[in-house]
Amino acid sequence: MGILHTVILGILQVWKVTLNLVSLKGNGIPEPGVVLKFLLNLVFGDEKLQKLEYLTDFYYKYGLFRYETKIYIFDPKLAHTAINKLEKGAEDYLKNSPLKETFLGSSHKSPEVRRAIASIFRKTSIEERGKLIISDVDNLSEKILRKSEKQENINITELSLQFAMDVVGHVLLDLNLFALEGRQMKLLDCLTTILHRCYALGEISDQGQEFIQANKDFEKLTTSILEDALNKEERPGEEKTFVKKLHEVCGFAQARDNMKLFLMAGSETTASTIPVILFLLTAYPELHHQIQSEADQNMEQLCKDPTISLPKTEALMKEVLRTYPIAPFISRRTFYNVTLGSVEIPANSDLIVFTWGIHRSENVWEKAKQFLPSRFLEDGLSHGGMYIPFGAGSRICIGQHLAWLELKLAVAILLHKFNFSKVPETPDLRFVVDWAHAVVHPDKDMIFKVTSRI
Ligand code: HEM
Ligand SMILES: *[C@@H]1O[C@H](CO)[C@@H](O)[C@H](O)[C@H]1NC(C)=O
Ligand SMILES: *[C@@H]1O[C@H](CO)[C@@H](O)[C@H](O)[C@H]1NC(C)=O
Ligand SMILES: *[C@@H]1O[C@H](CO)[C@@H](O)[C@H](O)[C@H]1NC(C)=O
Ligand SMILES: *[C@@H]1O[C@H](CO)[C@@H](O)[C@H](O)[C@H]1NC(C)=O
Repeated sequence: MGILHTVILGILQVWKVTLNLVSLKGNGIPEPGVVLKFLLNLVFGDEKLQKLEYLTDFYYKYGLFRYETKIYIFDPKLAHTAINKLEKGAEDYLKNSPLKETFLGSSHKSPEVRRAIASIFRKTSIEERGKLIISDVDNLSEKILRKSEKQENINITELSLQFAMDVVGHVLLDLNLFALEGRQMKLLDCLTTILHRCYALGEISDQGQEFIQANKDFEKLTTSILEDALNKEERPGEEKTFVKKLHEVCGFAQARDNMKLFLMAGSETTASTIPVILFLLTAYPELHHQIQSEADQNMEQLCKDPTISLPKTEALMKEVLRTYPIAPFISRRTFYNVTLGSVEIPANSDLIVFTWGIHRSENVWEKAKQFLPSRFLEDGLSHGGMYIPFGAGSRICIGQHLAWLELKLAVAILLHKFNFSKVPETPDLRFVVDWAHAVVHPDKDMIFKVTSRI
């Protein structure tokens, strides 16, 4: 960081301190003016996520601020109230999205579909299918092993996405998608075009030909996957597959769109988290070693019962999702004037419960900017700060139990089987934001060297 940046940050620091000495009068929602915006631009360029994180600290006394057209909330109490009291702010972006017919919209729409879907995502239903996830991790390991035998580095970004898609297929849809076998290249291509290239990286526009084509292909591919699944006769005594049940409650179009939602929400999130976890493990060799020992000690038991707890591995996962919440914010919307705490929020406001800022704020977490998985074990560091990687309340992430089990099994089994290390091609950990779907991705594909341990 240059001297100019240091000077500007110094000025901002003095400004912040005086600003926060002024007590909260009236119901104003603070908002950076031209001067502050100018200084932020000098320091952070167009890194909007970093600017917002900075503003969380800058306005900490107020608990919220306005930026561009949205209101960002980070005071824990206000944040909880907003999450629980307000409707999800999804309608807007759903207009142009392939997900518009899904249950993502209003909570009051189609409760029976919601119930059918909720039953498959229940913790117990997911845990019953833990062994399916283990065989997907085994197939992932097989692919990694083949690379390591040829002394090739692995592209874990690509592999994680294929793996996560197979897990969604097996666990949520009762379908073999064979993404790891290379059978879903086109579908994966659509996903990355829509989610990475358009929404996260902004390389292509959502009005452009490439995006429109990817959406069409996504529709065609999911249509034929669903048709195949519906045409498959179940064997006597076999339960109806989940897709068939879904189709019965909501018909073809909605079943397909919900399938698209599972593929998008369920593949992207965990697939982005795995490379981040592995990156951090290669950056902290002592941690790599600890997680590996825990995995080695518990592997036999884990394969018999995938639900056993792995305290160190889970503390690592918690800390990764604290410092780098893959879903960096939660959207809510006001449809009429509401009061949150003592603040009046006008009707038709877009509210952003700013998870990224909350998790990384020194005002909420002790040593917030440091990566310390042991804070989630018994070590004296407070871990009582607000922690909402999956959201909260009635719209909490429906896939959280799947995500947790999937990540735990992937990390433990991969570390049991392999050593991971960085190579010159491994990029630094930097994120790009998909503001439409509220997801962050590492900006580049993660490449590692692997050596087999077994
Ligand atoms: C590390 C992994 C994941 C993270 C961090 C994550 C995070 C989140 C967050 C923060 C929300 C919004 C909650 C709210 O608005 O209050 C959400 C919603 C959702 N997530 Fe996840 N998620 C993950 C994995 C998954 C998986 C594996 C699925 C499986 C399909 C999934 C499906 C969904 C769905 C369908 C919703 C919308 C729920 C609703 O609107 O009621 N997520 N997720
Ligand atoms: C794992 O891969 C093998 C072949 O490589 C395939 O036959 C099997 O169906 C795959 N398993 C899963 C659970 O996808
Ligand atoms: C990783 O895999 C993806 C998907 O196949 C590919 O597009 C990308 O170029 C690969 N990245 C690197 C750095 O090799
Ligand atoms: C909402 O608040 C605005 C001022 O912020 C006020 O002008 C308007 O009358 C209020 N609307 C209702 C329905 O209370
Ligand atoms: C894996 O890493 C550990 C610790 O760094 C080392 O002791 C071990 O020899 C490595 N194993 C292989 C197969 O490279």
